[in-house]
Amino acid sequence: FSFAEPKNEPVLNYAPGSAERKALQAAIAEAKSQQRDIPMYINNQEVRSGEKMEIRPPHETAHLLGHFHVGTETHVKDAIKAALEAREAWAATSWEHRANVFLKAAELLAGKYRWKMNAATMLGQSKNAYQAEIDSACELIDFLRFNVHYLTEIYKQQPLSSPGVHNRLEYRPLEGFVLAITPFNFTAIGGNLPTAPAMCGNVVVWKPANTQVYSASVFMEILIEAGLPAGVINLVYPPGAVIGDVSMAHPDFAGVHFTGSTGVFQTIWKTIGTNLPTYKSFPRIVGETGGKDFVFVHPTAQVDAVVAGLARGAFEYQGQKCSAASRAYLPSNIAAEIKDKLIAELKTMKMGIVDDFTNFINAVIDERSFDKLAKYIDNVANSNGKAKIITGGKYDKSKGWYIEPTIIETNDPSYVTMCEELFGPVLTIYTYEADKWEETLTVVDQTSPYALTGAIFSQDRHTIETMTKKLVNAAGNFYINDKPTGAVVGQQPFGGARASGTNDKAGSALNLYRWLSARTIKETQ
Ligand code: SER
Repeated sequence: FSFAEPKNEPVLNYAPGSAERKALQAAIAEAKSQQRDIPMYINNQEVRSGEKMEIRPPHETAHLLGHFHVGTETHVKDAIKAALEAREAWAATSWEHRANVFLKAAELLAGKYRWKMNAATMLGQSKNAYQAEIDSACELIDFLRFNVHYLTEIYKQQPLSSPGVHNRLEYRPLEGFVLAITPFNFTAIGGNLPTAPAMCGNVVVWKPANTQVYSASVFMEILIEAGLPAGVINLVYPPGAVIGDVSMAHPDFAGVHFTGSTGVFQTIWKTIGTNLPTYKSFPRIVGETGGKDFVFVHPTAQVDAVVAGLARGAFEYQGQKCSAASRAYLPSNIAAEIKDKLIAELKTMKMGIVDDFTNFINAVIDERSFDKLAKYIDNVANSNGKAKIITGGKYDKSKGWYIEPTIIETNDPSYVTMCEELFGPVLTIYTYEADKWEETLTVVDQTSPYALTGAIFSQDRHTIETMTKKLVNAAGNFYINDKPTGAVVGQQPFGGARASGTNDKAGSALNLYRWLSARTIKETQ
């Protein structure tokens, strides 16, 4: 059997007066009128601990959206037990039937639940309508459909046989359960991290960031409606340390699918190392972590393309994509023109609540992020002339976690905001001497420990080739004459190396292989 060739889900544009805009606005109004009481899901059953945490829109902190129930050690143990009990039957379910659960979920997301899912992402994670659409609708649907396609192709790959000798590969799931730990910034990553291993026949315990619980719970309801058997994916909300301690000490711990900070991933890796003698198998460790994504502009670059790339690449979703441009290298011949145009562009970006569709910028995710960004902005004043703010720089938490789109200009390519990950709407710019572009590539490569995304702008084929070669290890996703964000499933498999993770490209066969443990079977006649 085979499934239809996947196609990328078309992006709806929510034009004023359109039916889709009305439907989304109605879903936002409905979500805001409710006070959701969000349970955990163990064995597809709603579980409430009674210890509740509030959910408020980051851009409108006076509004209470509801609560979720915080998990304890017992809930993690129950989730692991449910997963292990479901394992044998799920692993034995035919691929055709497993795949159909995820294809049905994609169908529900594309139709009936598109507005509810986007509204949850907009309100819970402060994304504007377009950013929610490309994330919790299109990217998540694409992950599901394309992964079904890739896995179908993997299952077909078989070794050679000869007369009298039949060889085959049996693509088993891992022996145990997989832990999925997911971040706030993409609902699609939240959906992909548990479903990619589950598709491969694994059972999963899923812990989203507290700031993603709202959209994660909506997706879980969709999976259940799509027919996901009880226990295959169990969604729990305990504190990070609790989920880590309990699940990674378990003998059946078989792997972790993680997106989050480099520091947390290092801790996970160490914990797994320490616990190795406890496990039945060597766990699979797959992680996408931090980034300090660059834009390098060659003296031949087209100014307007650079301005558009920086405006969108650095400031869409308040710079909170792991792929967001956060350090730019401008050549002296066109630096002034780029800066002037970019500042003018930023001034047109309206900031405010997601309900108003004309707002391009919304709030950063929480107080911790707000305080961190405010500190970096304040510290510019103490930089001894190394840095200055050339636009933005204001912040205000009276109504939500608002940080104005900000550009810091520095004369020191190793100034702190050129090196450290800020995760917000703050771009740092360094101008280099146009005739020193080749030497500057070494600076681009060496300034940060990360290597997630990067973009170069040039109109000269020969220099494009030089830059692509010299920056060979500087980014896992490398863009030529385009912004470094917005990887599309099936088109630009996503992930980085160095301190940015294990580079097991999300939304590709490379990722799915990590959740399979093949058995080679030789049978002679
Ligand atoms: N896929 C996102 C992007 O490329 C990051 O996760 O922006």
